[in-house]
Amino acid sequence: MKIHDTILTTIGKTPIVRLQKSVPMGPHKYFGKVEFFNPGGSVKDRIAIAIIEEAEKRGDLKPGGTIVEATSGNTGVGLALVAAVKGYKCVITIPDKMSDEKINTLRAMGAKVIVTPTAVEPEDPRSHYSVARKMAEITPGGFLANQYDNNDNVESHYRTTGPEIWEQMDGKVDVFVGGAGTGGTLSGVGRFLKEKNPNVKIVCVDPIGSILHDLFYHKKVISPPQPYKIEGIGEDMLPKNVHFNVMDDFIQINDKESFLMCRDLLSKDGMFVGPSGAGAVVGAVRYASKQTKPLNIVILLPDSGSRYLSKAFNDSWMKENGFLESPLQLKTVGDLIQDMKSAGELISAKTSDSVLSVIQILKDRSLSQLPVIQDGKLIGVVDESDLLFPLASGRVKPTDPILSFVKGSVIMVDLDEPLQKLTELFAQGYVALVNDRNKKLRIITKIDLIEFLSKNY
Ligand SMILES: Cc1ncc(COP(=O)(O)O)c(C=O)c1O
Repeated sequence: MKIHDTILTTIGKTPIVRLQKSVPMGPHKYFGKVEFFNPGGSVKDRIAIAIIEEAEKRGDLKPGGTIVEATSGNTGVGLALVAAVKGYKCVITIPDKMSDEKINTLRAMGAKVIVTPTAVEPEDPRSHYSVARKMAEITPGGFLANQYDNNDNVESHYRTTGPEIWEQMDGKVDVFVGGAGTGGTLSGVGRFLKEKNPNVKIVCVDPIGSILHDLFYHKKVISPPQPYKIEGIGEDMLPKNVHFNVMDDFIQINDKESFLMCRDLLSKDGMFVGPSGAGAVVGAVRYASKQTKPLNIVILLPDSGSRYLSKAFNDSWMKENGFLESPLQLKTVGDLIQDMKSAGELISAKTSDSVLSVIQILKDRSLSQLPVIQDGKLIGVVDESDLLFPLASGRVKPTDPILSFVKGSVIMVDLDEPLQKLTELFAQGYVALVNDRNKKLRIITKIDLIEFLSKNY
């Protein structure tokens, strides 16, 4: 019988799958090491079992003990899974930028989850690193897995991921590409592959905002760390497990291209992976575009897209973050006008009209602004908010003419202008006017834009 005694022995031996349509055709071949096949759903199961079993052997973790870790999520899931099977308690600290799916998964697995602020320095007592250290210290039987500095992390990849890749590729691997969070994967796989063939290149993809690229090329931080949306890779500090000596190149990637690649990998190649793996594919293609010799490129795909349903696969989130075009870029003033209730003639006031009569028109027609015409020419608008206060305070009489309230901030826009233009004009205080397809003058207000967006977002 080929039955596993526990779920833990199913960790590793993940498949390698050729990428076909989501990468450019050309001399190079791209292969994904698909780590979501692990029982906890990510590459991190490998280090979780290794770190715990080595700690048991050393006596650092005793029966009934509590495993504590600072993690972007996946290591926590791996540790919680191993803890459940082996009967340990588990406490996970996680920065608040991480997806709800990860936090919910951790809680479902029985871990106690402490969510910490993302935008604090690593040394700050509120950071997920500091909180984890403190929790391990004050919890009786506490053991800090310490994936950033614990060499068992690197060794697990040297013993499992590296040899698997070598065997699965029959030794025909030229480049290995992945991101570095703790650095464990690249350092362990890199050392193994280079021992087999010193010509294998190890390429690290690094999100813009991480400091690792600067540290590799300049030995110091040139661009200070910035927040970014890709989870799990890139750092604002240098973990011990990042071994620059086995790395050959660093390729910078950005959030937008990585999140869009998540969708391409799924729709074109059926690969449902997360943004760090998608970013690694983007980086691999960028690296390969500079190489002339045909290469076999193996890319680490650390986890599943299912952990990012509320982000990479959520249109609203993608638009809010500028990763997908929103109607503001895609739709035009013409689209908005077409959608607006058909207008009769443009309702307007004359400069000689009284404040009271203008307020009456605004009220009757449910308008907030009114264009003002003098000698047949438009000279500006009056806005209800400008009228009410002076009237209420008695500074203006209802019979006064409207002239002194006319604002000249009226601007003509074209029908083919994108809606983005309207938001910019509104922000500068303009009221927009447009000639519709029947050459009728129409006024567009903020409310018209909001109504259109709420229907079309
Ligand atoms: C989604 C994801 N991708 C990549 C990595 C990076 O792997 P490593 O820590 O081995 O550098 C992590 C690590 O947390 C991760 O969670």
